Amino acid sequence: TVPASSVMPRPKFHLTPRRNWMNDPNGLVYHDGLWHAYFQFNPEGADWGNMSWGHATSPDLLRWTEHPVALQCRDGEQIFSGSVVVGRQPGAEQLTAFYTSAYDSGRQAQSRATSTDGGYVWEFHASNPVLDRGTTDFRDPKVFQYIDDSGDAHWVLVAVEAADRQVLVYVSTDLCEWEHASTFGPLDAGMDDAENIVWECPDLIRLCVDGDPDDMRWVLLLSTNPVGEEADPVGSSMSYIVGQFDGRTFTPEVDFLTRLDCGRDFYAGVTFDNAPDRDAIMLGWMSNWRYATVVPTTPWRGAMSLPRRLSLRAIGGDVRLAQEPYGFVPTWLAAATPVTVLGGEGPLELPSSSNAVFELQWDPSSTGSLRLQFQGEGHGNVSVLYDVEKSELRVTRAGPDSERIHPDFPSVSTVPLSAEGPAKLLASLDGPLLEVFVNDGLAAVSNLVPLGTGPVRTTVDSDARGPITVKAVDARAVDK
Ligand code: FRU
Repeated sequence: TVPASSVMPRPKFHLTPRRNWMNDPNGLVYHDGLWHAYFQFNPEGADWGNMSWGHATSPDLLRWTEHPVALQCRDGEQIFSGSVVVGRQPGAEQLTAFYTSAYDSGRQAQSRATSTDGGYVWEFHASNPVLDRGTTDFRDPKVFQYIDDSGDAHWVLVAVEAADRQVLVYVSTDLCEWEHASTFGPLDAGMDDAENIVWECPDLIRLCVDGDPDDMRWVLLLSTNPVGEEADPVGSSMSYIVGQFDGRTFTPEVDFLTRLDCGRDFYAGVTFDNAPDRDAIMLGWMSNWRYATVVPTTPWRGAMSLPRRLSLRAIGGDVRLAQEPYGFVPTWLAAATPVTVLGGEGPLELPSSSNAVFELQWDPSSTGSLRLQFQGEGHGNVSVLYDVEKSELRVTRAGPDSERIHPDFPSVSTVPLSAEGPAKLLASLDGPLLEVFVNDGLAAVSNLVPLGTGPVRTTVDSDARGPITVKAVDARAVDK
């Protein structure tokens, strides 16, 4: 049992269920001025089971309203992860959900449901499942519309054969009949323990490089989870691979996966259908299958990440996926007054708020390395070190509460840094959720951080004298 002061507090500006268990985001869709997030949900309790789709909506991705369960598990069938698309034909703007029917027999197949009231009430399709290979690890359908150069459109569905580490691509013109178009994977290079890894929750998105509409690429997002007795204690994480997609086949530009978030707690991230400006806006689940079931929260368990806007940047010959907070966080920061302080004069105290966003900017060539530290007295200590000498960012999660939660909870996450230019850290702390974005989102580290329920002492210190520009937004006042 966990002492009351070690129970993690509920975040204030992230989506959590009022009560009970939540994992993957499902069916993310922007429709009629509202962001809809469905999610893997147990209507009966705070452990994984009875999987159904919970539902919440928000006008701004900040204030969420939870609605009744959208897709309820039934006798012999759980509702696993999937997606929602907005019908594009005028007059037929209904919402269609694709989800995995996980039958008690072990079989997994893709099914369909529709909503004509804007996503609240759903009707299961009479001839479900609509896509069935008779296998047991076929899941997580993500559907999107593909438009070719001549303007012709068709639907694409990507789903995994999880244990085979394959992404299957299907195409359709009516969202009913699906034709198998191609299969991607497995990839062996760079994956040490490939046999003991499952692929889950694929997404395939189109982005331009450095904002150039003439340089489009496709990015396959994948969640990978080590399974079995000898599983990697680091647990589940997300990766991506950049390539091309012709509407039927994904052709990668490299033969390895790159980590999308280098922390311990970012999984099953997928993007919204129909987002404004066709932006790729992602939410991920901030936990890790390694210890998700013992995270000390009550009466809820599971939280979504900040909404993140994805983009591609060319860096030294590579094309890299960047992610930056989208919506209210940049708005808060834009309104905050920057304060310039001198480094090298001992730790600088920032507001001791456990719900805050900080942005730090400095020149590593004069101010050197920088450490941002969060301390919850008697509970936990988290440090974010931008280490110029090692050209590496290190996020260390330590302290008595971490050790109590799970043997694999104490952690050090490292991210290689590209050395040139000014350095920038954006850190969002919302109760137990820490998300760090480095150099305008070129790297991200997301961790659950057990800091207790009391005040969190936040400090910054650096090696040498030199200016550090600080913006601090105390989000405790956020009206929910
Ligand atoms: C990923 C996942 C999915 C599955 C769902 C079940 O976290 O394992 O592959 O659909 O969770 O809850």
